[in-house]
Amino acid sequence: MHKNGELWFDINHQPIQAHGGMIMQFNGTYYWYGEHKGGPNVLSKSGGRRVDFIGFSCYSSSNLIDWKNEGLILRADKENKESLLHPSQVGERPKVVYNEKNNNFVLWFHSDTWDYSYAGASVAVSDSPTGPFRYLRSFHPNGRDCRDMTVFKDDNGKAYLFHSTDFNKTMCISELDENYTDVTGFYTLNFIEQQREAPTVLHYKNWYYSVTSGCTGWKPNNALYAISRSLCSGWKLIDNPCTGKNYRKTFFGQSTYLGVAEGQPFLMLDHWKPDHLINSGYSILPVYLNEKEMDIPFVPEFNGFQ
Ligand code: GLA
Repeated sequence: MHKNGELWFDINHQPIQAHGGMIMQFNGTYYWYGEHKGGPNVLSKSGGRRVDFIGFSCYSSSNLIDWKNEGLILRADKENKESLLHPSQVGERPKVVYNEKNNNFVLWFHSDTWDYSYAGASVAVSDSPTGPFRYLRSFHPNGRDCRDMTVFKDDNGKAYLFHSTDFNKTMCISELDENYTDVTGFYTLNFIEQQREAPTVLHYKNWYYSVTSGCTGWKPNNALYAISRSLCSGWKLIDNPCTGKNYRKTFFGQSTYLGVAEGQPFLMLDHWKPDHLINSGYSILPVYLNEKEMDIPFVPEFNGFQ
């Protein structure tokens, strides 16, 4: 059992360090990837609250409850001060997808300078879901800035990068190539001037769904869901999907991943603790979908979906 909104613990009773994360299912195992924020809070030169970049963690589980620490899949580069992987820089929201053509795993994440002025995407690859991942490069997808992001693999095997662009004003959907390691050049702009971040995407029955947050840094705000019949166009923002107490603050959380496990759609949240990011909590909440409707009530405990 885990308490939603609080820090979760792995099977060795250690705090799970996998923030801004996602859950990938592969060969009957769940893999949870996220940011390792297990260091002291430091103030950036402009007063931003951060933990120096440590790397990205992986945890594995058969039931979404008992999580085994698989270690770091990508580590900070402590030697090279010029690298975007240097501890003084920013690495956030890691997302891993399995590429069938190459039988490998591709990791995308938001790479940035300490002041968030670079705003790029980084790519790394591995032959194993537990890494280590080999860093390929950082760049601006389709020449556009990329801050909060996620990767979505569609039913036909095509994958897309969803990234907040134009200084977080607009959501860009960039198509990935068949290796998932680059963009093809095809992209669309969505939620134009709507200022959404923390994107999540799900295809369920007749609709594509997306849950995003507003842009208020570590402070919680109200989530919005959007629906579309097709992935790259026609998105319409509908409403706040959260219901019950604290629904306007997303239960003091921020979206990070929308998925389905054991047939149950779910939303994963981060509960940031800006002054002690190391203690930031998690939630996995059931999501109820009925055509154009999405409902997300808060449940205090997560006991899996089996
Ligand atoms: C938002 C983003 C996070 C992180 C913080 C930094 O919450 O969603 O990924 O960039 O801002 O303030």
